[in-house]
Parts: sequence; C-alpha cells; structure tokens
Amino acid sequence: MDLGAGEPDFDTPQNIKDAALVAMQAGKTKYTPTAGIRDLQKAIIEMYRRDFSAIYERSQVMATSGGKQAIFNAVVSLINRDDEVLIPKPFWVSFPEMVAFARGRSAFIETEDNGFVLTADMVRRAITPKTKLIILNSPSNPSGRVIPPAEFKEIMEVVAEKGIYAVSDECYLRFVYPPATVFSAASLRPELRQRLCIAGSFSKTYAMTGWRIGYALANGDWTKAMLKVQGHSTSNATSISQAAAVEALSGPQESVAAMLAEYARRREWLLNALNEVPGFICAKPEGAFYAFPDVRGCLKASVKTSAQFANELLEKEQTVVTDGAGFGADGFIRISYATSLDRLQEGVKRIKRVVERGSA
Ligand SMILES: Cc1ncc(COP(=O)(O)O)c(C=O)c1O
Repeated sequence: MDLGAGEPDFDTPQNIKDAALVAMQAGKTKYTPTAGIRDLQKAIIEMYRRDFSAIYERSQVMATSGGKQAIFNAVVSLINRDDEVLIPKPFWVSFPEMVAFARGRSAFIETEDNGFVLTADMVRRAITPKTKLIILNSPSNPSGRVIPPAEFKEIMEVVAEKGIYAVSDECYLRFVYPPATVFSAASLRPELRQRLCIAGSFSKTYAMTGWRIGYALANGDWTKAMLKVQGHSTSNATSISQAAAVEALSGPQESVAAMLAEYARRREWLLNALNEVPGFICAKPEGAFYAFPDVRGCLKASVKTSAQFANELLEKEQTVVTDGAGFGADGFIRISYATSLDRLQEGVKRIKRVVERGSA
C-alpha cells in the first residue's frame, strides 16, 4: 500500500494531451526562447490578471522545467556563499539542498507551537543581518497547512521592511479546501511583491508531473538573472509541454474541479480515520493532498522514532508512508491521499493493525 506518492493519481486531462499532439504535428519541436513561448507567457500573465488582479509584464515571466526549476533558478541566482535563507519547518526536502548548492546557509524556523503555521512574528524574530531570502510554501508539503492570507500579507510586510527577498512556492495553489480559499502572493499590493519570486507549477493542478513544466514570476532584474541560470543549464522548458501548458491555462477547467472534489472526499474520510488510530493526532490540513499526523503517542522503547515507525509499517504490513524527519519534523509521518479511497482504507486498516498489535 503506497501512501507515499507526491503526485496526483489522475491522468493528464485529454484536452491538454491533444494540445501537445497538435503542437508536435505542427512541428513545434524546436528550441524556444529561454523564457518560453510568447503564448505561454501571455496565458500566465492573463491568469494572474484574471484571478489575482496582478499585473505582470513579459519581462517578469519565464517558463521553467517544473516549479522545482523555478525555485532553483531563484535560489542560485540570488544566494552567495554564507547568505542565510529562512526555511520554515516542516519544509519540502529540496529547499535546503538548493540553498546548499548555492553555498548558502539554511536557518530553520520552528512552527510546531502554532500547528505548523508560520507567523509574521516568527519571521521577524528569525531575521539576522545575514538573512537574504525566505522560502514560503503554502499550502505546504508536507503539512498541508495554509498560511491565512492576512498573515501572509504581514509576513510580506516584514520581508519588505527588512529588505530581504521571498520565494513563494505556490505549487499547490489550487488545492485548498473550504473554508480556506485560493490565495497567491501575487494578489498583494505591488510594493509588497517587489522582492518576491512566485514559483508556479502545472504538475499538481493539471496532473502533469512528467511533463516538467512550471514558471517563475519576479521583478525584471531577478528574472534576468534567472534567465542566465536557465539559459546556460537547461535552456528552455520542453516546447511540447509549453504548448500543453497554454491549453491547461486557457482551456476548460472542469477537470481541475473534478480532481479537487475527489481529493476533498478522500481527505474527509482520511482525517476522521487517522484520528481514530490510538496515539495519532492529526490536525486538519487546509490544502495540498497530504495528512501529517503526530505519531509520538505510538512510540515505545522498541520503536522510538517516526522513522522506525514508518519502517515497521513497511516491514510488517507492506505499507509506505513518509517519515516526517526528512521534512524537519521528527515524530510525524506524511500520508498522501493522492491515491484511491480503497487504497487509503486498506492502508489505514494496516496502520491500525500495527499500532494495536503493540509492535509499535
Ligand atoms: C512543495 C513543492 N514544491 C515544488 C514541487 C515541484 O514540483 P514540479 O517541479 O513538478 O513542478 C513539489 C513537488 O512535489 C512540491 O511538493
């Protein structure tokens, strides 16, 4: 039972696949500009204008090979040796690795006391004279928690006041569950986003993980630096994926709503079920497709850590969950509901068996 997946179990919607076929047949198989084809830049700009009332110019938008490359470009173009980068815990595993690649230093912010939700006060306290950047990720992988929009705005006020930069990883932008609402840092007033890079992705929203397509939105200077990084490494995002991404943004959006409804159904079931497992405490995640229960109530002399707990599940019940320690949250495990309800039900049954058997 694999409950570890970090990608949608849905197929890419047919209209998006068709757009890729048309592009191939029309010979759109050559290099593109490093920043991406004009139609994709325009579609991204239009989406941010329509949905977030944000005005971006073409010189501030670039297509990337996944949201991951947008974050990578942003970090390596900005960070020099020993610059400090604030990373709230729990974090997506690649953030500190990217900082290390740039020879910067990760400075982690503890958020557990506030249910893993970052606050402006926490950011203010963590900033030192060496701080250059903060990486924000809401909805969060792994916690699924969402920073409330008012708090996000206050965080960006601290960022602007202190003159540091921010990356907002909005890879799970569309995956929020009521009463939480879709929020992008792009909707903040322009003074608050002068030093902001938004990293966006098609991977989760449109079930396109394998297509490797995302984008970055940032001020003109930062974008220019990111274009240099990308221009001398991977050049452009795949031409065919770019054509598919234009359709993803401009075509019908029903498939997104349908996927979201299914995630919501699984989430409802999973949260109740996990909170019935003796020793588990699972806060309600407002977004993404992960539950992140605290399993410290199940640890014993023979199984002292969440890593050992995850291992026990694998060995005794062939069930895969992801240990929280890799995300900076020892004592927690990540369970993905980007998998069928049947599999979730069987997975939770097995988790319960391990816990109740007392082997954990
Ligand atoms: C928090 C977060 N950011 C970024 C990414 C990168 O996604 P991609 O490069 O596929 O767009 C992922 C993928 O798992 C993620 O979980």
